[in-house]
Amino acid sequence: MNLNTRRPRRNRRTEAIREMVLETRIHPSQLIMPFFILEGENKSEEIKSMPGIFRFTIDLALQEARQCMQSGIKNFILFPVVEERHKDKHATYSYHPDCFYLQAIRDFKSLPDCTVITDVAMDPYSSDGHDGLYNDGVILNDETLNILGKMTIAQAEAGADIIGPSDMMDGRVGFLRNALDNKGFTEVAIMSYTAKFASCFYGPFRDALDSAPKFGNKLTYQMHPANRREALVEAHLDEEEGADYLMVKPALAYLDIIADLRRTSNLPIVAYHVSGEYAMIKAAAQNGWINEEAAIKEVLTSIRRAGADIIITYFARRYAEMIKG
Ligand code: PBG
Repeated sequence: MNLNTRRPRRNRRTEAIREMVLETRIHPSQLIMPFFILEGENKSEEIKSMPGIFRFTIDLALQEARQCMQSGIKNFILFPVVEERHKDKHATYSYHPDCFYLQAIRDFKSLPDCTVITDVAMDPYSSDGHDGLYNDGVILNDETLNILGKMTIAQAEAGADIIGPSDMMDGRVGFLRNALDNKGFTEVAIMSYTAKFASCFYGPFRDALDSAPKFGNKLTYQMHPANRREALVEAHLDEEEGADYLMVKPALAYLDIIADLRRTSNLPIVAYHVSGEYAMIKAAAQNGWINEEAAIKEVLTSIRRAGADIIITYFARRYAEMIKG
């Protein structure tokens, strides 16, 4: 046999050919940029463990969002940085009419053609730092749903396009779908954190929000990193309950889960490239140990290649600016 008959290198010969045969591309419209929102005005604070990422008051966040939009990033996911004085056991501030986070949703929606995705979970507002209602060492699932329902309706009333339950309580997608529909919010979509793993890579995010659990850990609701089939159980339930998007979180250490969900579901698959994943690239780059831009491209491409349609990443704006040149 002539060993030279098959020559895969032909398809790598020129820049134009290489680009033509690319199997995976990333367009800025597929990226979602997270924002950490502070109460007040004209304040910004850089997050120590996330160089280049800031907590912004609404006015400054809007300026930043406008710049994102100029680079083609139109989808935003908002998280509140809640002062300790607003926190309580039942996360009541989350649906208080004066809650600055609800104002942030209204203000972001005044930007033309942007998508506002919200966070539904108790931890930013909870004096216990848990995503669910904590009582005597136990997270109360069904009691939590009632609170998440109030939070969801308040966010929908403020104008949210998509609500993002990140709490991992059982039955929450169906419960929240029902709550929304009963109030006439049939157009508000649900981006479910379907397979959210109990991960050390959320560390910098908890610094950003000051939302770490005051006791215990999140292992009774977030998934164990060792489990793959369990993600399919969660995905199946979320689809049945009416989710519009399925999310895997974190991204890079869970590419197999992304691929599994892509194969078994026809819904859009979202991957959350989380704070710790951002921090690792930044830290190595700042030390001169890796090339930052190359790392960003390679990592985001690998997440898309695994099967994610959409990526939530703190590099969204940077990526969009990078590919513009
Ligand atoms: C909590 C929530 C977390 C993140 C998003 N929503 C952290 C956690 O579960 O403790 C993490 C995001 C990131 O690390 O970038 N509801």
